Amino acid sequence: MFRPVAQIPLDYSVFKDKNSVFAWAPSGAILFGNGCVARTGQELKRLGVSRVVVVSDQGLVKAGIVQKVLDALEQAGVTYQLYDQCEADPSVETVEAIAALAKDADLLVGVGGGSSIDPAKAAAILVTNGGSIRDYQGCDKFSKAPLPLVAIPTAAGTGTETTPFAVITDRQRAWKMPIGGTGIMPALVIADPELTYSLPPHITAATGMDALTHAIEAYTSRCTEPISDALAIQAIKLLAKAIRPAVFRGDIDRDARYDMMMGSMLAGYAFTSASLGISHCMAHPLGAMYHVPHGVGNAICLPVVMEFNMGAWPERYADIAPFFGEDVSGLSVLDGARKGVECVYRLVEDLPIQPLEHWGVTLQSLDQLADEAMKGGDRPNNARMTTKEDFIRLYTKALTLKKQG
Ligand SMILES: [Fe+2]
Repeated sequence: MFRPVAQIPLDYSVFKDKNSVFAWAPSGAILFGNGCVARTGQELKRLGVSRVVVVSDQGLVKAGIVQKVLDALEQAGVTYQLYDQCEADPSVETVEAIAALAKDADLLVGVGGGSSIDPAKAAAILVTNGGSIRDYQGCDKFSKAPLPLVAIPTAAGTGTETTPFAVITDRQRAWKMPIGGTGIMPALVIADPELTYSLPPHITAATGMDALTHAIEAYTSRCTEPISDALAIQAIKLLAKAIRPAVFRGDIDRDARYDMMMGSMLAGYAFTSASLGISHCMAHPLGAMYHVPHGVGNAICLPVVMEFNMGAWPERYADIAPFFGEDVSGLSVLDGARKGVECVYRLVEDLPIQPLEHWGVTLQSLDQLADEAMKGGDRPNNARMTTKEDFIRLYTKALTLKKQG
């Protein structure tokens, strides 16, 4: 079985403190709201677009979600071609196939999560710059502006619709390539919470925990700044309140779905600036080596990492419990921080997140996992410094977390 074994760090962040300068480069536009996907065609017409390639996968075709986009394009008279063969861990070959289809297109429309939007971002580079996508590994390695991209997320989680990054798997080298640059920020995000109504509870839980991890890691990283803080705080509040109802009655709770979609998007913008932490460093090799879904890996690692981190920045961690609606008055700063960690442990226990054992992770694999986590691009951004021995202890603790399936 193919197993990517490593990622190289993408150096897109600059350490930020009150003596440093930070920059913001948000996406072009956001259209947000229930039913707004029906306006996709008219929005593209308004942009002067007439030929597009829609990028998605078979699951979203079967769920009828892609058809909603295609109907909107047809009603507005926008000509389209559909690429619906995206896979998990999108490959170099997928990017090449999308780019070949899009060589005469005005714009790409990515419908889905990272498995659709990431290869669309990468193909957008290839269409205008040529060559192999391997040439553009790293940050800002392309010279010509990529084809514009519209991102339509179908789950509240990855936040890829808000970021200038894509991860493409190179099967020849068993390698996950980070590709980044402000040119691949979507020109337009169309975020329609209705597209998430039919997601099953375990997917809502995993993707929602990925979003919450983005928000908490962005709020506690070494790269925080005032704008990302504002976004991360609001994201944590929305996600903390909405995630249980979205998981347990997501078929009827429109408000919870709305708040999850908004929280996920805000968290995406927050971490684009503030970066992430070591929960993501730990989740990536779990995905690469054991196919643990990204959100599941983060759900299990996040509380363990928060507990490890909180002593490095207790004032910041003490903010978190009140975002969950908990009262910390009368507590010391450290006890307040501990209460925030407990909120996240309880949340993960409540949700249908399967334990690492379920995915075949064993104590014997911890050494290799820790080696891979040490290579994580966000390790320098984490609140607390880490060693390989720390990662072994953290993975060991994560393995002992038993969750109902
Ligand atoms: Fe993530």
